[in-house]
Amino acid sequence: MTTNPTTTSAPTATVSTPGTTSDLTQSQSPSPARAQSTLAIHAGQEPDPITGAVVTPIYMTSTFKQDGVGGLRHGYDYSRSVNPTRDSFDTQLAAVEGARYALTFSSGLAAIDVLLRATLKPGDAILLGNDVYGGTYRLLAQVFEPWGVHVDVVDVSDSTAVSAALAQRQYAVIWVETPSNPMLRITDIRATATLAHAHGTRVIVDNTFASPVLQHPLEDGADAVVYSTTKYIGGHSDVVGGAVLLNDEATRDQVAFLQNAAGAVPSPFDSWLDIRGLKTLALRVQRHSENALAIAQWLEQHDQVEHVWYPGLASHPGHEIAARQMHGGFGGMISVQLGGGLEAAKAFAGATELFTLAESLGGVESLIEHPAAMTHSSVSGTALQVPDNLVRLSVGIEDVDDLIADLEQAFARISAGTDGQTR
Ligand SMILES: Cc1ncc(COP(=O)(O)O)c(C=O)c1O
Repeated sequence: MTTNPTTTSAPTATVSTPGTTSDLTQSQSPSPARAQSTLAIHAGQEPDPITGAVVTPIYMTSTFKQDGVGGLRHGYDYSRSVNPTRDSFDTQLAAVEGARYALTFSSGLAAIDVLLRATLKPGDAILLGNDVYGGTYRLLAQVFEPWGVHVDVVDVSDSTAVSAALAQRQYAVIWVETPSNPMLRITDIRATATLAHAHGTRVIVDNTFASPVLQHPLEDGADAVVYSTTKYIGGHSDVVGGAVLLNDEATRDQVAFLQNAAGAVPSPFDSWLDIRGLKTLALRVQRHSENALAIAQWLEQHDQVEHVWYPGLASHPGHEIAARQMHGGFGGMISVQLGGGLEAAKAFAGATELFTLAESLGGVESLIEHPAAMTHSSVSGTALQVPDNLVRLSVGIEDVDDLIADLEQAFARISAGTDGQTR
Protein backbone atom coordinates (compact mmCIF):
# COMPACT_ATOMS: atom_id res chain seq x y z
CA MET A 1 0.00 0.00 0.00
CA THR A 2 1.12 3.51 -0.54
CA THR A 3 0.43 6.85 0.94
CA ASN A 4 0.17 10.39 -0.16
CA PRO A 5 3.09 12.43 -1.36
CA THR A 6 3.05 16.08 -0.45
CA THR A 7 1.81 18.21 -3.30
CA THR A 8 1.47 21.48 -1.49
CA SER A 9 3.35 24.60 -0.71
CA ALA A 10 4.77 23.08 2.44
CA PRO A 11 7.42 21.20 0.48
CA THR A 12 9.60 20.54 3.46
CA ALA A 13 6.92 19.00 5.63
CA THR A 14 8.74 15.70 5.89
CA VAL A 15 7.38 13.38 8.49
CA SER A 16 9.58 10.32 8.41
CA THR A 17 10.79 8.82 11.65
CA PRO A 18 14.46 8.22 12.53
CA GLY A 19 15.27 4.63 11.85
CA THR A 20 12.84 4.40 8.97
CA THR A 21 12.85 5.77 5.47
CA SER A 22 9.32 6.90 4.91
CA ASP A 23 10.00 7.64 1.27
CA LEU A 24 6.39 8.32 0.27
CA THR A 25 6.12 11.08 2.82
CA GLN A 26 9.23 12.90 1.73
CA SER A 27 8.79 16.29 0.19
CA GLN A 28 8.22 16.51 -3.53
CA SER A 29 9.32 19.34 -5.76
CA PRO A 30 7.85 22.62 -4.57
CA SER A 31 4.46 23.50 -6.03
CA PRO A 32 3.00 27.00 -6.27
CA ALA A 33 2.10 28.68 -2.98
CA ARG A 34 -1.50 27.91 -2.10
CA ALA A 35 -3.90 29.37 0.41
CA GLN A 36 -4.34 27.77 3.80
CA SER A 37 -7.94 26.70 3.07
CA THR A 38 -6.76 24.90 -0.09
CA LEU A 39 -3.92 23.22 1.75
CA ALA A 40 -6.34 22.02 4.44
CA ILE A 41 -8.25 20.08 1.77
CA HIS A 42 -5.39 18.88 -0.40
CA ALA A 43 -2.08 18.70 1.46
CA GLY A 44 -1.19 15.06 2.08
CA GLN A 45 -4.56 14.02 0.61
CA GLU A 46 -3.66 12.54 -2.78
CA PRO A 47 -6.20 9.92 -3.92
CA ASP A 48 -5.12 6.43 -2.89
CA PRO A 49 -2.85 5.19 -5.70
CA ILE A 50 -4.24 1.64 -5.63
CA THR A 51 -7.99 2.13 -5.31
CA GLY A 52 -8.40 5.80 -6.22
CA ALA A 53 -10.13 6.43 -2.86
CA VAL A 54 -10.43 10.19 -2.63
CA VAL A 55 -10.31 10.15 1.16
CA THR A 56 -7.18 8.91 2.91
CA PRO A 57 -7.82 5.34 4.09
CA ILE A 58 -7.61 4.39 7.76
CA TYR A 59 -4.56 2.13 7.63
CA MET A 60 -5.66 0.02 10.58
CA THR A 61 -2.57 -2.15 10.71
CA SER A 62 0.10 -2.44 13.37
CA THR A 63 2.73 -3.85 11.04
CA PHE A 64 3.81 -3.95 7.38
CA LYS A 65 5.09 -6.83 5.22
CA GLN A 66 8.75 -6.60 4.33
CA ASP A 67 10.10 -7.77 0.99
CA GLY A 68 13.04 -9.65 2.48
CA VAL A 69 14.65 -8.63 5.77
CA GLY A 70 14.91 -4.85 5.85
CA GLY A 71 13.02 -4.55 2.55
CA LEU A 72 10.49 -2.00 3.67
CA ARG A 73 7.77 -0.94 1.29
CA HIS A 74 7.75 2.84 1.29
CA GLY A 75 9.49 2.98 4.66
CA TYR A 76 6.66 1.54 6.73
CA ASP A 77 7.63 -1.07 9.30
CA TYR A 78 5.56 -0.68 12.48
CA SER A 79 2.71 1.71 13.29
CA ARG A 80 4.16 3.14 16.51
CA SER A 81 7.03 4.47 14.42
CA VAL A 82 5.14 5.39 11.28
CA ASN A 83 1.69 4.89 9.79
CA PRO A 84 0.34 6.16 6.46
CA THR A 85 -2.83 7.72 7.92
CA ARG A 86 -0.77 9.56 10.53
CA ASP A 87 1.66 10.67 7.81
CA SER A 88 -1.24 12.07 5.86
CA PHE A 89 -2.41 14.14 8.85
CA ASP A 90 1.12 15.27 9.67
CA THR A 91 1.61 16.49 6.10
CA GLN A 92 -1.77 18.24 6.03
CA LEU A 93 -1.23 19.94 9.40
CA ALA A 94 2.33 21.05 8.58
CA ALA A 95 1.07 22.62 5.37
CA VAL A 96 -1.81 24.42 7.11
CA GLU A 97 0.56 25.74 9.79
CA GLY A 98 3.24 26.66 7.26
CA ALA A 99 5.70 24.58 9.29
CA ARG A 100 8.45 22.34 7.98
CA TYR A 101 7.56 19.54 10.40
CA ALA A 102 4.45 18.26 12.16
CA LEU A 103 4.47 15.35 14.58
CA THR A 104 1.20 14.15 16.05
CA PHE A 105 0.44 12.44 19.34
CA SER A 106 -2.25 10.61 21.28
CA SER A 107 -3.12 13.76 23.28
CA GLY A 108 -2.15 17.39 23.64
CA LEU A 109 -0.35 16.59 26.87
CA ALA A 110 1.63 13.79 25.21
CA ALA A 111 2.77 16.34 22.60
CA ILE A 112 3.67 18.86 25.32
CA ASP A 113 5.53 16.21 27.34
CA VAL A 114 7.67 15.12 24.41
CA LEU A 115 8.41 18.68 23.29
CA LEU A 116 9.46 19.62 26.82
CA ARG A 117 11.71 16.55 27.06
CA ALA A 118 13.24 17.47 23.72
CA THR A 119 13.99 21.04 24.81
CA LEU A 120 14.76 20.75 28.54
CA LYS A 121 17.16 18.72 30.63
CA PRO A 122 17.66 18.52 34.40
CA GLY A 123 19.25 21.76 35.60
CA ASP A 124 17.45 23.87 32.98
CA ALA A 125 14.83 26.47 33.81
CA ILE A 126 11.52 27.28 32.11
CA LEU A 127 9.50 30.48 32.37
CA LEU A 128 5.82 29.61 32.38
CA GLY A 129 2.91 31.96 31.76
CA ASN A 130 0.77 32.50 34.85
CA ASP A 131 -2.39 31.53 33.02
CA VAL A 132 -2.09 28.19 31.24
CA TYR A 133 -4.03 24.97 30.94
CA GLY A 134 -3.98 23.29 34.37
CA GLY A 135 -2.60 20.05 32.94
CA THR A 136 0.44 21.85 31.52
CA TYR A 137 1.17 23.32 34.94
CA ARG A 138 0.65 19.93 36.63
CA LEU A 139 3.05 18.26 34.18
CA LEU A 140 5.74 20.87 34.82
CA ALA A 141 5.23 21.15 38.59
CA GLN A 142 4.74 17.47 39.37
CA VAL A 143 6.80 15.68 36.72
CA PHE A 144 9.45 18.05 35.35
CA GLU A 145 10.32 19.84 38.62
CA PRO A 146 11.04 16.54 40.44
CA TRP A 147 13.15 15.59 37.37
CA GLY A 148 15.31 18.67 38.04
CA VAL A 149 13.78 21.38 35.84
CA HIS A 150 13.28 24.74 37.56
CA VAL A 151 9.87 26.31 36.85
CA ASP A 152 9.21 30.04 37.33
CA VAL A 153 5.78 31.54 36.76
CA VAL A 154 5.29 35.04 35.41
CA ASP A 155 2.65 37.02 33.54
CA VAL A 156 4.15 36.50 30.08
CA SER A 157 1.74 39.05 28.61
CA ASP A 158 3.68 41.68 30.58
CA SER A 159 6.93 42.36 28.70
CA THR A 160 8.44 44.23 31.66
CA ALA A 161 7.94 41.17 33.86
CA VAL A 162 9.44 38.92 31.18
CA SER A 163 12.48 41.21 30.77
CA ALA A 164 13.02 41.26 34.51
CA ALA A 165 12.82 37.46 34.71
CA LEU A 166 15.23 37.00 31.80
CA ALA A 167 17.70 39.35 33.47
CA GLN A 168 17.63 37.23 36.64
CA ARG A 169 18.12 33.74 35.26
CA GLN A 170 19.01 31.83 32.11
CA TYR A 171 15.83 30.16 30.83
CA ALA A 172 15.90 27.42 28.21
CA VAL A 173 12.26 28.00 27.30
CA ILE A 174 9.44 30.52 27.70
CA TRP A 175 6.03 28.81 27.51
CA VAL A 176 3.26 31.02 26.16
CA GLU A 177 -0.46 30.42 25.75
CA THR A 178 -2.17 33.18 23.82
CA PRO A 179 -5.09 33.56 24.18
CA SER A 180 -4.48 31.87 27.51
CA ASN A 181 -6.63 29.33 29.30
CA PRO A 182 -8.87 30.40 30.98
CA MET A 183 -8.30 34.17 31.40
CA LEU A 184 -7.78 34.80 27.67
CA ARG A 185 -4.70 36.95 28.24
CA ILE A 186 -2.91 38.05 25.10
CA THR A 187 0.87 37.87 24.70
CA ASP A 188 2.69 39.60 21.86
CA ILE A 189 4.48 36.62 20.30
CA ARG A 190 6.83 38.63 18.11
CA ALA A 191 7.95 40.91 20.94
CA THR A 192 8.40 37.95 23.30
CA ALA A 193 10.43 36.03 20.74
CA THR A 194 12.71 39.02 20.11
CA LEU A 195 13.26 39.43 23.84
CA ALA A 196 13.77 35.72 24.48
CA HIS A 197 16.12 35.13 21.56
CA ALA A 198 18.37 37.93 22.75
CA HIS A 199 18.88 35.79 25.87
CA GLY A 200 19.30 32.49 24.01
CA THR A 201 15.84 31.37 25.20
CA ARG A 202 13.40 29.47 23.03
CA VAL A 203 9.71 30.36 22.78
CA ILE A 204 7.05 27.68 22.63
CA VAL A 205 3.46 28.72 21.94
CA ASP A 206 0.44 26.61 22.80
CA ASN A 207 -1.78 27.78 19.95
CA THR A 208 -4.75 25.60 20.86
CA PHE A 209 -7.21 28.44 21.50
CA ALA A 210 -6.39 30.39 18.33
CA SER A 211 -5.85 27.41 15.98
CA PRO A 212 -3.65 27.71 12.87
CA VAL A 213 -6.43 29.66 11.17
CA LEU A 214 -6.24 32.71 13.45
CA GLN A 215 -2.62 32.85 14.54
CA HIS A 216 0.77 31.86 13.10
CA PRO A 217 3.33 31.78 15.93
CA LEU A 218 6.18 30.37 13.82
CA GLU A 219 5.88 33.30 11.40
CA ASP A 220 5.92 35.59 14.42
CA GLY A 221 9.21 34.14 15.64
CA ALA A 222 8.20 31.29 17.95
CA ASP A 223 10.47 28.25 17.89
CA ALA A 224 7.76 25.63 18.23
CA VAL A 225 3.98 25.37 18.43
CA VAL A 226 1.88 22.80 20.24
CA TYR A 227 -1.78 21.91 19.87
CA SER A 228 -4.33 19.91 21.66
CA THR A 229 -5.92 18.72 18.40
CA THR A 230 -8.74 17.50 20.65
CA LYS A 231 -10.08 21.06 20.40
CA TYR A 232 -10.59 23.12 17.23
CA ILE A 233 -8.57 20.94 14.86
CA GLY A 234 -10.56 17.77 15.60
CA GLY A 235 -13.48 20.09 16.10
CA HIS A 236 -16.26 17.60 16.91
CA SER A 237 -15.43 16.47 20.48
CA ASP A 238 -14.86 12.92 19.29
CA VAL A 239 -11.08 12.50 19.34
CA VAL A 240 -8.20 13.26 21.73
CA GLY A 241 -4.91 14.23 20.11
CA GLY A 242 -1.94 16.56 20.07
CA ALA A 243 0.68 17.99 17.74
CA VAL A 244 4.11 19.60 17.70
CA LEU A 245 4.95 21.94 14.81
CA LEU A 246 8.40 23.34 14.17
CA ASN A 247 11.02 24.25 11.59
CA ASP A 248 14.25 23.25 13.32
CA GLU A 249 15.48 19.88 12.08
CA ALA A 250 17.56 18.91 15.11
CA THR A 251 14.65 19.51 17.52
CA ARG A 252 12.32 17.69 15.17
CA ASP A 253 14.64 14.68 15.15
CA GLN A 254 14.70 14.65 18.95
CA VAL A 255 10.91 14.95 19.15
CA ALA A 256 10.54 12.13 16.62
CA PHE A 257 12.99 9.97 18.55
CA LEU A 258 11.08 10.49 21.82
CA GLN A 259 7.75 9.97 20.07
CA ASN A 260 8.88 6.57 18.89
CA ALA A 261 10.78 5.72 22.08
CA ALA A 262 7.88 6.55 24.41
CA GLY A 263 5.14 5.67 21.94
CA ALA A 264 2.26 8.07 22.73
CA VAL A 265 1.05 8.04 19.13
CA PRO A 266 -2.49 8.51 17.80
CA SER A 267 -4.33 5.55 16.31
CA PRO A 268 -4.92 5.59 12.55
CA PHE A 269 -8.60 6.24 13.28
CA ASP A 270 -7.68 9.23 15.48
CA SER A 271 -5.54 10.62 12.66
CA TRP A 272 -8.36 10.10 10.17
CA LEU A 273 -10.79 12.03 12.39
CA ASP A 274 -8.27 14.84 12.71
CA ILE A 275 -7.76 14.92 8.94
CA ARG A 276 -11.49 15.30 8.48
CA GLY A 277 -11.71 17.98 11.15
CA LEU A 278 -8.83 20.02 9.75
CA LYS A 279 -10.47 20.20 6.33
CA THR A 280 -13.32 22.35 7.71
CA LEU A 281 -11.35 24.22 10.37
CA ALA A 282 -11.36 27.60 8.60
CA LEU A 283 -15.14 27.63 8.17
CA ARG A 284 -15.80 26.51 11.72
CA VAL A 285 -13.38 28.99 13.29
CA GLN A 286 -14.96 31.84 11.37
CA ARG A 287 -18.40 30.93 12.78
CA HIS A 288 -17.04 30.26 16.30
CA SER A 289 -15.46 33.73 16.23
CA GLU A 290 -18.55 35.53 14.93
CA ASN A 291 -20.79 33.85 17.51
CA ALA A 292 -18.36 34.48 20.36
CA LEU A 293 -17.96 38.17 19.54
CA ALA A 294 -21.74 38.68 19.50
CA ILE A 295 -22.15 36.78 22.78
CA ALA A 296 -19.27 38.63 24.46
CA GLN A 297 -20.80 41.99 23.47
CA TRP A 298 -24.17 40.86 24.82
CA LEU A 299 -22.65 39.57 28.09
CA GLU A 300 -20.74 42.82 28.59
CA GLN A 301 -24.07 44.66 28.87
CA HIS A 302 -25.64 42.15 31.28
CA ASP A 303 -26.29 43.29 34.85
CA GLN A 304 -25.45 39.85 36.35
CA VAL A 305 -21.99 39.96 34.80
CA GLU A 306 -19.01 41.44 36.64
CA HIS A 307 -16.50 41.16 33.79
CA VAL A 308 -16.15 39.59 30.35
CA TRP A 309 -12.78 38.39 29.08
CA TYR A 310 -12.76 38.20 25.29
CA PRO A 311 -9.88 39.55 23.16
CA GLY A 312 -12.29 40.83 20.52
CA LEU A 313 -13.76 43.39 22.93
CA ALA A 314 -12.22 46.85 22.92
CA SER A 315 -12.27 46.66 26.74
CA HIS A 316 -9.82 43.74 26.74
CA PRO A 317 -6.31 44.88 27.74
CA GLY A 318 -4.77 42.77 24.96
CA HIS A 319 -7.24 43.82 22.27
CA GLU A 320 -4.80 45.86 20.19
CA ILE A 321 -2.18 43.13 20.15
CA ALA A 322 -4.82 40.50 19.38
CA ALA A 323 -6.19 42.59 16.52
CA ARG A 324 -2.69 42.70 15.02
CA GLN A 325 -1.63 39.15 15.82
CA MET A 326 -4.85 37.21 15.18
CA HIS A 327 -6.16 37.06 11.63
CA GLY A 328 -9.87 37.06 10.83
CA GLY A 329 -11.32 36.74 14.31
CA PHE A 330 -10.65 36.32 18.01
CA GLY A 331 -11.75 32.73 18.51
CA GLY A 332 -14.62 31.00 20.23
CA MET A 333 -13.57 31.16 23.89
CA ILE A 334 -15.07 33.61 26.40
CA SER A 335 -14.56 33.78 30.14
CA VAL A 336 -17.08 35.58 32.32
CA GLN A 337 -16.90 36.61 35.95
CA LEU A 338 -20.35 36.67 37.51
CA GLY A 339 -21.53 39.30 39.95
CA GLY A 340 -22.98 36.69 42.30
CA GLY A 341 -19.62 35.07 43.08
CA LEU A 342 -18.80 31.36 43.35
CA GLU A 343 -22.35 30.19 43.98
CA ALA A 344 -23.74 32.11 41.01
CA ALA A 345 -20.96 30.80 38.76
CA LYS A 346 -21.62 27.18 39.74
CA ALA A 347 -25.38 27.60 39.42
CA PHE A 348 -25.08 29.33 36.04
CA ALA A 349 -22.82 26.57 34.69
CA GLY A 350 -25.54 24.08 35.59
CA ALA A 351 -28.48 26.11 34.31
CA THR A 352 -27.86 26.25 30.57
CA GLU A 353 -29.54 23.90 28.13
CA LEU A 354 -27.71 24.29 24.82
CA PHE A 355 -24.34 25.00 26.47
CA THR A 356 -23.45 21.56 27.88
CA LEU A 357 -21.66 21.47 31.22
CA ALA A 358 -18.45 19.67 30.28
CA GLU A 359 -14.67 20.07 30.17
CA SER A 360 -12.89 20.64 26.87
CA LEU A 361 -13.55 23.18 24.12
CA GLY A 362 -13.35 23.82 20.42
CA GLY A 363 -16.10 21.46 19.27
CA VAL A 364 -19.07 22.41 17.13
CA GLU A 365 -21.34 22.28 20.19
CA SER A 366 -21.25 24.96 22.86
CA LEU A 367 -19.83 23.97 26.25
CA ILE A 368 -19.74 25.67 29.62
CA GLU A 369 -17.54 24.93 32.62
CA HIS A 370 -16.34 26.24 35.96
CA PRO A 371 -12.51 26.32 35.64
CA ALA A 372 -11.72 26.59 39.38
CA ALA A 373 -13.52 23.30 40.05
CA MET A 374 -12.98 21.58 36.70
CA THR A 375 -10.19 22.16 34.13
CA HIS A 376 -8.03 24.20 36.52
CA SER A 377 -8.56 22.40 39.81
CA SER A 378 -4.89 21.31 39.67
CA VAL A 379 -3.73 24.97 39.97
CA SER A 380 -5.72 25.65 43.11
CA GLY A 381 -3.57 27.45 45.69
CA THR A 382 -0.78 28.22 43.15
CA ALA A 383 0.23 31.37 41.28
CA LEU A 384 -2.11 30.21 38.52
CA GLN A 385 -5.23 30.20 40.70
CA VAL A 386 -8.29 31.32 38.73
CA PRO A 387 -11.16 33.44 40.14
CA ASP A 388 -13.91 31.27 41.58
CA ASN A 389 -16.70 33.40 40.06
CA LEU A 390 -15.36 32.57 36.60
CA VAL A 391 -17.28 30.59 34.02
CA ARG A 392 -15.69 29.60 30.71
CA LEU A 393 -17.71 29.31 27.52
CA SER A 394 -16.64 27.40 24.45
CA VAL A 395 -18.98 28.96 21.91
CA GLY A 396 -20.05 26.50 19.25
CA ILE A 397 -21.39 27.01 15.76
CA GLU A 398 -25.11 26.85 16.57
CA ASP A 399 -27.43 29.76 15.80
CA VAL A 400 -26.19 32.71 17.85
CA ASP A 401 -29.69 33.91 18.81
CA ASP A 402 -30.46 30.47 20.27
CA LEU A 403 -27.21 30.57 22.25
CA ILE A 404 -27.97 34.03 23.65
CA ALA A 405 -31.50 32.93 24.54
CA ASP A 406 -30.03 29.95 26.40
CA LEU A 407 -27.69 32.18 28.43
CA GLU A 408 -30.56 34.57 29.15
CA GLN A 409 -32.79 31.78 30.49
CA ALA A 410 -29.88 30.54 32.65
CA PHE A 411 -29.45 34.03 34.15
CA ALA A 412 -33.20 34.20 34.74
CA ARG A 413 -33.21 30.78 36.43
CA ILE A 414 -30.37 31.58 38.79
CA SER A 415 -31.83 34.93 39.77
CA ALA A 416 -35.22 33.28 40.38
CA GLY A 417 -33.51 30.44 42.29
CA THR A 418 -35.14 27.84 40.02
CA ASP A 419 -31.92 26.22 38.84
CA GLY A 420 -32.15 23.35 41.31
CA GLN A 421 -28.91 24.36 43.07
CA THR A 422 -28.83 24.55 46.86
CA ARG A 423 -27.17 27.70 48.09
C1 LIG B 1 -4.63 25.10 25.90
C2 LIG B 1 -4.53 23.60 26.10
N1 LIG B 1 -3.38 22.98 25.86
C3 LIG B 1 -3.26 21.64 26.03
C4 LIG B 1 -4.30 20.88 26.51
C5 LIG B 1 -4.12 19.40 26.72
O1 LIG B 1 -4.68 18.69 25.64
P1 LIG B 1 -5.27 17.21 25.76
O2 LIG B 1 -6.46 17.27 26.64
O3 LIG B 1 -5.58 16.86 24.33
O4 LIG B 1 -4.18 16.35 26.34
C6 LIG B 1 -5.53 21.49 26.76
C7 LIG B 1 -6.67 20.69 27.24
O5 LIG B 1 -7.72 21.20 27.60
C8 LIG B 1 -5.65 22.89 26.57
O6 LIG B 1 -6.81 23.55 26.82
